[in-house]
Amino acid sequence: MSHAAKAPNRSTEQRPIEDCRADFPVLAQTINGEPLVYLDSAASSQAPGVVIDAVAEYQRHDHANVHRGVHTLSHRATDLYESARDAVQEFIGAGRRTEIVFTRGTTESINLVAQSFCRPTLGAGDRILITHLEHHSNIVPWQIVCEQTGAELVIVPIDSSGQVDPQELIEKMDDRVRIVAIAHVSNALGSILPLTEIIQAAHDRDIPVLVDGAQAVPHLAVDVQALDVDFYAFSGHKMFAPTGIGILYAKETHLEAMPPYQGGGDMILEVRFEGTTYNELPYKFEAGTPNISGAIGLGAAARYLASMGLERIAAHENRLLAYLTRRLAAINGIRLIGTASNKASVQSFLLDDIHPHDIGTILDHQGVAIRTGHHCAMPVMDFFGIPGTARASLALYNNEEDIDRLIAALAKTQEIFA
Ligand code: ALA
Repeated sequence: MSHAAKAPNRSTEQRPIEDCRADFPVLAQTINGEPLVYLDSAASSQAPGVVIDAVAEYQRHDHANVHRGVHTLSHRATDLYESARDAVQEFIGAGRRTEIVFTRGTTESINLVAQSFCRPTLGAGDRILITHLEHHSNIVPWQIVCEQTGAELVIVPIDSSGQVDPQELIEKMDDRVRIVAIAHVSNALGSILPLTEIIQAAHDRDIPVLVDGAQAVPHLAVDVQALDVDFYAFSGHKMFAPTGIGILYAKETHLEAMPPYQGGGDMILEVRFEGTTYNELPYKFEAGTPNISGAIGLGAAARYLASMGLERIAAHENRLLAYLTRRLAAINGIRLIGTASNKASVQSFLLDDIHPHDIGTILDHQGVAIRTGHHCAMPVMDFFGIPGTARASLALYNNEEDIDRLIAALAKTQEIFA
């Protein structure tokens, strides 16, 4: 390879993380007269120009339905859609592109597994193991399938730091457990679960594992083959892609054995009134016209994150999270919620006896966006005996100045309530 050919790669690899803020046009605005500080990426992250452009280019020049037409636009749309699947496969280290199913998001991915993988074989006496820190999307689909089948949902506790003791989880893996379904990173607390140990222990007992990776993929390098995870679910809009698109990674052997989740166009080979045969993987699980532009945006986001380097992103965010936690902890009247030693990107807190919604509103007046409330994790709030928290969540585009602005805005909030 010539020197000239190598240079662009090297400069891409070496591009400082700090520079990437300029890639996100939405951040360059004022809110209530103040420059925007966006600390709500755990709820939904912002999109870089390359994602916005990929979606717009497709809508402007290439839109048509996929897998159906013989005309040029349909070929182009199909190529873009399938190349997004390749980008996602590479992004999470999946062995086969057939293992990447486009869904509407993490929620649909988990419902798909609950209904298609679990429901046909579950019965009374069977158990599903989850933890106390799960997002509602990794609780309610299991409650529904338990109601449908008579199976039981077993909850593994968390400790006062908001972490799961893997030994407690492993002790509950008896021969009645049909699946373990756990978060990679808690959306409310930021705790990172020790997946390798849990998955290994589950597999030693022939129990498959589903991981809700929604809060992990924009922050940590994920390799589904190294994890040996059975199912890994995540959403586009938490990783700089549009809403309404997400991924279910599943081992091919599971997908082969599972019945379709939904019926309709594209998931079939032949339809007769006497009976229907289903399409090959992954199309068996992609009924109807998919979210083509969303998938293209997700592919662009995966390439963007990969180009920045997940290890470098994690290092940047870890430094910021340590700074955020240190600055928050120094405030009189603060209570940090979620203090596990291994965390990513999120800090929840309470301030004096100010209601979290009031904190969020006063912060917004100062241009600072955070999320307040139960964060779709009501059992976590019950565990801590609180109705909700204020939560600052980070992404690669944040910097120390954002955190300084948050701290100053919190001081003002305290002044107002003093
Ligand atoms: N799951 C999203 C959050 O944590 C909505 O805010």
